Amino acid sequence: MKFIIFSDVHSNLESLQSFCSVTESILHDKKVCLGDIVGYNADPNPVVEWIRDKTDFALAGNHDYSVLNKTDASYLNPAAYQASLWTRRNLTNSNKDFLNALPIEKEEDGIYWVHSSPFEPKKWHYVLTKKNAEKNFNYFDQAICFVGHSHLPGIFEKNKNNKVYSHDTTKEELDPESRYIINVGSLGQPRDGNPDPVFVFYDSVSHIVKFFRFSYDLFITQQKIIACGLPYTLADRLRNGL
Ligand SMILES: [Fe+2]
Repeated sequence: MKFIIFSDVHSNLESLQSFCSVTESILHDKKVCLGDIVGYNADPNPVVEWIRDKTDFALAGNHDYSVLNKTDASYLNPAAYQASLWTRRNLTNSNKDFLNALPIEKEEDGIYWVHSSPFEPKKWHYVLTKKNAEKNFNYFDQAICFVGHSHLPGIFEKNKNNKVYSHDTTKEELDPESRYIINVGSLGQPRDGNPDPVFVFYDSVSHIVKFFRFSYDLFITQQKIIACGLPYTLADRLRNGL
């Protein structure tokens, strides 16, 4: 089965629109969103409605939970917290209902899907290091797990000899005898120093994984952030990809 997997759209409509045109030409069976649909940027309603209508399934992330008051938002940085409160005021009730019904983890098609981490997914841990990954491999049974949350794309591999490696996004062929935790990065607020959004194509038959990057008109996204009265830093960081 062929998947297009993306995460952390964070109400960025312009990125999502470019994503639609890029993915049109990629043959796939399912589109999967790994959560953090809202927060930070200025278009929560059209983004939630697109996710509702166009994905095969979606998860919720910590920013979605924060907007719904389902998790402690006090750990968010001040700009993120302000955006969370703004989103809570501006999201329609039916879109809140949609987010409220989303799981934060799922097992489907022999794959484990989670927004944050297999270990204590509701505590929103990050999987950033080989040491983090080593622990997290003990908390799911499948050969492959896809995560978002950190906005940092990359691959952790545990081979048949139980050695854990990290790979950058150029790796394409997965070893059928290894297990993997794959972070798909972010569509709405990339943080690896590259402002271009990123998503993953995965073919479970050929064991090919491919990271795609594309550009979009982030100036419009920045203008909307400023026009809504959201913190300027949220517009600025899109330009830097940080
Ligand atoms: Fe996020």
